[in-house]
Amino acid sequence: MDFAERYGPWAVVAGASEGTGREFAKQIAAQGVSCILIARREGPLAELAEEIRQTGVDCVTASVDLTKPDAVDRISEAVGSREVGLYVNNAGADANGSRFLDKDVQAWVDLAQRNVMTTLKCCHHFGGPMRQRQRGGLLLVNSGACYGGGSFMATYSASKAFDLNFAEGLWAELRGYGVDVLSLVLGQTDTPAYRALLAEKGQALPTNWASPVDVARVGLAQLPHGPIYNWGQTNDVAGWAPSSPDTRRARILMIDQHSRSTFGD
Ligand SMILES: NC(=O)c1ccc[n+]([C@@H]2O[C@H](COP(=O)([O-])OP(=O)(O)OC[C@H]3O[C@@H](n4cnc5c(N)ncnc54)[C@H](OP(=O)(O)O)[C@@H]3O)[C@@H](O)[C@H]2O)c1
Repeated sequence: MDFAERYGPWAVVAGASEGTGREFAKQIAAQGVSCILIARREGPLAELAEEIRQTGVDCVTASVDLTKPDAVDRISEAVGSREVGLYVNNAGADANGSRFLDKDVQAWVDLAQRNVMTTLKCCHHFGGPMRQRQRGGLLLVNSGACYGGGSFMATYSASKAFDLNFAEGLWAELRGYGVDVLSLVLGQTDTPAYRALLAEKGQALPTNWASPVDVARVGLAQLPHGPIYNWGQTNDVAGWAPSSPDTRRARILMIDQHSRSTFGD
């Protein structure tokens, strides 16, 4: 199957108005898959949708705040009866740059709601029909912060750890159904959101960050090879690093075998 047969006819990109999300949408559309673009700001979404439509590929948009409990209902309304073969969960950064207790708790509740509950609900909503059709993809954009907590990112890293474990479990559960799941673990990436945070903190721009074009290209190419791709890191095949995709895959498969013998297929 080519890309469009495997992941078409429609893809949903959550967090598509700029940066990596925008690039995912453009590169998905370039492979002939129609796009449903989600973010809060309508202007940039409408502009991107027009750019995509001019290439002859269908595209619709919906302004949805992913921190709201009804976000998935809103996305579902926007999708309607369209068949979604690919869900890209891109929105997920922490714009706060703050210690946990120095911010109103609502900021962290919103972050957790978007990165955990909305992600979970979207994967359930889109993953079910994919499993039934025996094809599709769930691509969850993650961060190196998923591998451990740290100051100024307590909630962020915890939410990304959820996303990592969640993607690993879904990968194991869906791999027999032709549905690909990938946790795309990024390092520093040149996005408008990250630039804005660095500017706010008076920090210089990194010299070795990844470009959204490369992130989208590599992420889509790695989608069939889940559950993890660590940006900029060589795969530690010896298995010493706790983040080694090979080691983690082997552990997941071992647990899968054990779980199947306990709970049945
Ligand atoms: N940039 C980095 O250095 C870096 C490093 C590691 C991991 N990552 C990961 O890469 C992904 C993209 O990061 P990013 O730097 O581009 O910032 P981001 O804020 O996660 O993503 C920007 C996109 O998400 C949308 N978005 C953000 N919050 C939203 C909300 N509540 N509801 C709907 N849409 C929302 C934005 O559009 P609107 O503003 O229009 O809503 C925009 O289209 C994230 O998952 C992040 O964790 C980034």
